Amino acid sequence: MSSKKADVSIKTDNLIKDFQIPKGEDVKVLTGVKMEVKAGEFIAVMGPSGSGKSTLLNILATLEPLTSGEVVIGDFDLEDSTYKDKLEIRRLHSSIVFQSFALIPYLTAIENVKLPMKLRKIPEKEAEEKAVKHLESVGLYGRLNHLPEELSGGEQQRVAIARALAHDPKIIYADEPTGNLDTFTGREIIHLFKQLVKEKNITIIMVTHDSESAKQTDRIYILQKGKVLTEKSKSKSKKNTKKEGRKK
Ligand SMILES: Nc1ncnc2c1ncn2[C@@H]1O[C@H](COP(=O)(O)OP(=O)(O)OP(=O)(O)O)[C@@H](O)[C@H]1O
Ligand SMILES: [Mg+2]
Repeated sequence: MSSKKADVSIKTDNLIKDFQIPKGEDVKVLTGVKMEVKAGEFIAVMGPSGSGKSTLLNILATLEPLTSGEVVIGDFDLEDSTYKDKLEIRRLHSSIVFQSFALIPYLTAIENVKLPMKLRKIPEKEAEEKAVKHLESVGLYGRLNHLPEELSGGEQQRVAIARALAHDPKIIYADEPTGNLDTFTGREIIHLFKQLVKEKNITIIMVTHDSESAKQTDRIYILQKGKVLTEKSKSKSKKNTKKEGRKK
């Protein structure tokens, strides 16, 4: 099982998503997305508002069904997967981090991180130890018993990331994780993601509107009109930056 986990990768081909609107025309959101992500890659997804970035992430995270096409997450083909398989994919593989942090307001930082472990019936002592470890690994010290409203935005996002780490996921999906943070705090979160990719070999797919954050990733997919318009690799953008630097 663990060797399988280490190889988890994501592949989509001709991924199509329509939303049926009872009182209106169907919305064709994704019209054929093709992407391939290797385990341990840090990927940015960019594109105009309404281009389907969140929809794509929600489909990959199995929170939203696809209309048709191929989506393979590790050993699971989403099109053929049952409800049970989807739970298994979530349990084994993925976690999601949102722009709004989505913490439970009446639970402290450590209680928020422990909650998913409690739901999975992990014994209290083990959950406590793991929660402290994950909170420390995201750089949150001395704030463990604070409620979300007693934390800064950056600290709240760190708690959300620690909670995402609670079941040792191989993939983290992040939907505009720095969208509610100031530039400096946002950069710190991106730095943390880079660290997680490097140290834990986690795959991260991050939707962002911020091109500076996107530049920090290995590759950028740009969605437009429901398709991947371009795919930029880090090496290319690095070369360009160097060239531009020389010109000056
Ligand atoms: N549940 C739904 N029912 C109908 N249409 C939906 C639904 N969810 C999303 N859409 C439509 O799908 C399109 C893509 O939405 P999505 O949220 O994926 O965009 P996005 O790229 O994440 O945009 P943003 O950058 O503003 O977050 C939008 O036009 C939206 O109205
Ligand atoms: Mg969105």
